[in-house]
Amino acid sequence: MERVLITGARGYLASLAQLYNAGRYEFVRVSHTDVDFRDPRGVEEFVRSADFDVCLHMAADATTAHCEKDPEGTHRVNTESAIAIARACHERRRRVVFISTEQCFNASGGTAPFSEDDEQASTTRYGQQKMEADAWIRANVDDYLILRFSWMFGLALPGVKPSPNILTNVMATLRSGEPAAFRVHERRNMTYAQRFASQLPQILALPSGAYHFASQNGRTTYETARLVAERLGCSAAELDRLILPDEKTYAERPRDFRLASEKIQAAGIELGTFEEDLDACLRDFGLA
Ligand SMILES: NC(=O)c1ccc[n+]([C@@H]2O[C@H](COP(=O)([O-])OP(=O)(O)OC[C@H]3O[C@@H](n4cnc5c(N)ncnc54)[C@H](OP(=O)(O)O)[C@@H]3O)[C@@H](O)[C@H]2O)c1
Repeated sequence: MERVLITGARGYLASLAQLYNAGRYEFVRVSHTDVDFRDPRGVEEFVRSADFDVCLHMAADATTAHCEKDPEGTHRVNTESAIAIARACHERRRRVVFISTEQCFNASGGTAPFSEDDEQASTTRYGQQKMEADAWIRANVDDYLILRFSWMFGLALPGVKPSPNILTNVMATLRSGEPAAFRVHERRNMTYAQRFASQLPQILALPSGAYHFASQNGRTTYETARLVAERLGCSAAELDRLILPDEKTYAERPRDFRLASEKIQAAGIELGTFEEDLDACLRDFGLA
């Protein structure tokens, strides 16, 4: 059985990937309690001596606010350790899979939806840190996959705790009864995380390269939140009371960092629309 070294093994997408592929791979789990990702040299030494066939590098400090507050520390985790892992994999002739992000395009001068070779620019440290590792891998590694994810969503399962996402955010609003504002001047794709976990074997077999992984979403974040609340059975009056438009954020310069997914779809990976993904998720969790 193929041995998959998986970093950030207790994280949302990593635990989901392991849950869906338990019998398919032997996962060699790495957490920050095993290796300190603020120490890129230690990380590189660890990867040089580990026994694995492919490395699925999922560990990151993905909290934008942490990256702004501690740019050096999070740079070591998100950029330097990612490069160290990629270098060790390259030298050992093992494939490395790096999870990059839509945030690499949040300040791009180009027009959405962005393709894999479009110009990257990001206003956030998190996006910049991912961009730097993403560029290094493309320039220096022979056998790699860079998967640039849109915002992923889903719900909890045993051993799987979702990162904050559109569905958990809207559910929290409906549960608390406290109104929340969602951005009117932002467009981004949102993808059911199970699309990644359930297609992991096909993804790992893709030809080396960078791929965008995103189901397509024609709505603003505000419109998306309203759709989610509607599908969860919220009445029209409650919808207007609870899901409010955030008209201020990015009003000066509306953000659209949607990713085009044609390349990965042409290679056989299935993606869809946000509506399809939402319906699939609600069905899977008995909410539709
Ligand atoms: N969720 C999304 O919408 C999304 C979108 C685009 C890209 N991504 C990328 O996909 C990957 C997984 O995301 P996720 O949503 O599953 O995130 P997550 O739940 O926060 O998982 C990330 C994991 O990385 C490890 N980690 C975090 N901080 C660390 C630190 N300072 N040092 C070492 N390890 C640390 C932890 O795993 P352990 O506890 O096992 O150490 C953590 O659980 C990340 O690389 C993220 O940037 C996610």
